[in-house]
Amino acid sequence: MDYSKKVMDHFMNPRNMGTLENCDGIGEVGNAKCGDIMKIYLRVEENNLRVEDGRIVDVKFQTFGCGAAVASSSMATELIKGKTLKEAWDLSNKAVAEALDGLPPIKMHCSMLAEEAIHEAINDYLLKKGLEPWED
Ligand code: FES
Repeated sequence: MDYSKKVMDHFMNPRNMGTLENCDGIGEVGNAKCGDIMKIYLRVEENNLRVEDGRIVDVKFQTFGCGAAVASSSMATELIKGKTLKEAWDLSNKAVAEALDGLPPIKMHCSMLAEEAIHEAINDYLLKKGLEPWED
């Protein structure tokens, strides 16, 4: 199986791996296909006017997953750092795979972990604020 240079780089040197103390939202998901798990931690700078404009000022991830899951989570956290909640919500696993110069088709499901964990973490943040969670 061929992995792009970017996939290998993010796998060997993952960005934003770890946990965040006192974070504002945590998302944890499992992958039904392989049983691997992913956790995303968000620190959010609130926007008092529009909740969706709150900004992700820090993000970390932890995964018990394969190399493609590590690389796609690393890239996903890089892509949502500094972005609004709405922008982070709209990040698709396809966009993450493209940013990595592609993933082998049988590894695409691994990149779903990051997308789903980001959604869970945003909804955890919204629920903690007493707001309605967003729908996929
Ligand atoms: Fe489980 Fe890739 S094989 S996340």
